[in-house]
Amino acid sequence: MSTRRSFIKSGCAACILMGAGMSFLESCSTPLPMIKLASTTGGQIAVGTDAFANKGNMLVVRSKQLEYDILLIKNADAYKALYLRCTHEGVGLTPAANKIFCSAHGSVFDLEGKVVKEPALRPLKTYPTEVINNQIIIHLS
Ligand code: FES
Repeated sequence: MSTRRSFIKSGCAACILMGAGMSFLESCSTPLPMIKLASTTGGQIAVGTDAFANKGNMLVVRSKQLEYDILLIKNADAYKALYLRCTHEGVGLTPAANKIFCSAHGSVFDLEGKVVKEPALRPLKTYPTEVINNQIIIHLS
């Protein structure tokens, strides 16, 4: 016969496993579309606005000049560029539909780059962007 204490212990263990499972499932959603760029020029990356055609409002940008990818988010005619490097210990991040996950120690960031779940304490690095002649310019400085 189970005691009240053992019932609570097993219930808490089940809740922890369910919570971990939910985070795992969220981070394993369909990968976002990616664009691979051969090079950067003059401390900036250019991505054609047409790269978003039929791909939703988020695009992962990969360049050989950067150690980690950039998540480029379209919001109307403005673009936000988030560097996908965890601010806790510098591990690469996994973006999903609504959040950005770190598999190393479980930090979670929102699509503004703000910390949603520690241990990371600082927001993600963002790069300024501008649109010139249908090119989204990401300034890497
Ligand atoms: S490196 Fe991302 S949470 Fe530790």
